Amino acid sequence: GLPAEVTIYEVGPRDGLQNEKTIVPAATKVEFVRRLEAAGLGTIETTSFVPAKWVPQMGDAEEVLAGLGADGVGRRRPALVPNERGLDRAEELGLQAIAVFGSATETFARKNLNRSVAEQYAMFEPVVRRAQADSMWVRAYVSMCFGDPWEGPVPVEQVVDVAVRLMDLGCDQLSLGDTIGVGTTGHVHRLLEALEARGIGTDRVAVHFHDTYGQALANTMAALRDGVTVVDAAAGGLGGCPYAKSATGNLATEDLVWALHGAGVRTGVDLDALVETSVWMAEQLGRPSPSRVVKALAGS
Ligand code: HMG
Ligand code: MG
Repeated sequence: GLPAEVTIYEVGPRDGLQNEKTIVPAATKVEFVRRLEAAGLGTIETTSFVPAKWVPQMGDAEEVLAGLGADGVGRRRPALVPNERGLDRAEELGLQAIAVFGSATETFARKNLNRSVAEQYAMFEPVVRRAQADSMWVRAYVSMCFGDPWEGPVPVEQVVDVAVRLMDLGCDQLSLGDTIGVGTTGHVHRLLEALEARGIGTDRVAVHFHDTYGQALANTMAALRDGVTVVDAAAGGLGGCPYAKSATGNLATEDLVWALHGAGVRTGVDLDALVETSVWMAEQLGRPSPSRVVKALAGS
C-alpha cells in the first residue's frame, strides 16, 4: 500500500527555473521560495552553486540566498554543489544541506559535468567528505537512471553501480533521476529491487521523475508502493535540464498532491495556496503552467 505520509522535495526554484529561457530576477525567486514555504512545502531546493557560464539561470545563487536570509539555510534548504568551489560558496552563506549530482551514463557525465563517470567520483569525494565533517546533510542525485538521449535505455546494474559509489562516499539520500522522463513502472520496480539487493533500501531513496512521456505520476505512485517516501516535484510542472536534450518539466507538485490527498496520504501542502503560487509564477514567466491540476483548479 501507500505510506501514510510523503515528504515532498520541492525542486521548482532550482530544476524548475534552471532551464527557463528568460532569467528570472532573484527577487522573484526569493518570493517563489517564500510562497512555496507558505503553501506547506517543508523541503525546498533553492539554487545551484555552479559557474554562471554553465547555467546562467542559477548565476544569482548568492543574491537569492541573501534575499532568503534565515529561510534559505537549514537542513531542509539544500542547493546543488558539484565541486569544492561550489561548497566554498555554499558554506560561506551558511548552507547546511547540499546535493551532489552524478550521472549513470558517460555521455551525460561528459556533457553535464565535463567529466567521465569515473572522474565524477573524484570531484564529489572531497565535497562529501568536507560537508560531512561540517555536519551538513548530503543528497546524491543520479541522472539518466532509466534512459539517456544519446545512449538509449540504461541497464539497471549500471545505475546501481553509480548509486552505490555515491552512497559509499557517505551521502544521506539518493535521488533517482529520470532526466528525460522515459521510465515506466516495471522499470522503476526493478531498479528499486536491485538497489535494495545492494544495500540501498527505500528508506534512503527519493524519486525524481520528469514528465516528458506523461509517466511521472504513475512512476511515483509505483515507487511509493515499493516503500519510497520522498518524492521530488516542481510547482506547476516547471523544469528541465539545459544539458539534456528532450528533458521537459518535472512531475508537477500539484499533480502529486492531488493524487496523494485523494488517496488519504498526508503531505502538509495546502493545494489551493500552491496552485495560486504556480499561477503567479506562470505570469512571471509569461506562459501557462503545464500542470493539468493547476489548469483545472485555477480555472474553477
Ligand atoms: P569545468 O569547466 O570542468 O570546471 O566544469 P573547472 O573546475 O575546470 O573550472 C572552470 C572555471 O569555473 C574556473 O574558473 C573555476 O573557478 C570556475 P576560471 O579559472 O576559468 O575563471 N568554477 C566555478 N565557479 C563558480 N562555482 C563553481 C565553480 N566550479 C568551477 N562551483 C563543472 C565542471 C562541474 C563546474 C560544470 O560542469 C558544471 O557546473 N556542471 C553543472 C551543470 C548543471 O548545473 N546542470 C544542471 C543540474 S543537473 C540536473 O538538472 C539533473 C537533476 O535535476 C536530476 C535529473 O533530472 O536527472 C539534478
Ligand atoms: Mg531534474
